[in-house]
Amino acid sequence: MTALLLPSILWRPDSDNRRRFIMHEIQMRINGKDFQYDVEPRLLLVSYIREKACLTGTHVGCDTGHCGACTVIFQGRAIKSCMMLAVCADGFEIITIEGLAAEDLHPVQEAFRDRFAVQCGYCTPGMILSSYSLLQNNPKPNEAEIRKALVGNLCMCTGYQQIVDAVKYAAERMKRVERKDP
Ligand code: FES
Ligand code: FES
Repeated sequence: MTALLLPSILWRPDSDNRRRFIMHEIQMRINGKDFQYDVEPRLLLVSYIREKACLTGTHVGCDTGHCGACTVIFQGRAIKSCMMLAVCADGFEIITIEGLAAEDLHPVQEAFRDRFAVQCGYCTPGMILSSYSLLQNNPKPNEAEIRKALVGNLCMCTGYQQIVDAVKYAAERMKRVERKDP
């Protein structure tokens, strides 16, 4: 039944009897700012973020859910934004890599910089946001927990060890910031 109804929700014929996607007005809050655009129902969330909101720090690596380059924080959880339609994020809140830093870099970003966990940088926004999400839920992860949390983020350059070290270092830095240590 759903399969029969779906086409009439997605498109309708135009005057020449060609199929036209029905546009949907959607709104979402990204990095504390509201965005509202008309979109086709097939538009991916990653495309909305990059092409409508012009936040190109969110990368596209595979478009198939494998590489994690498109990771963002959706309602507090790390998700792959190429795996969600923009219309499904209507009314929700998202943080991208651009939203993580306030005036200064976030401690996770600083840790990636200071522990040389970046080479070409393509995977880095996704790695940082997955690490941020892990540390929100588990402020003192061990190495196995870090590797498990980053299993959906692929890096072609670093060999992963510097990234794991950076996440451990970020955990220490975040604890220091919380305690207001120098
Ligand atoms: S672009 Fe989304 S997982 Fe690769
Ligand atoms: S730093 Fe190049 S893909 Fe990770």
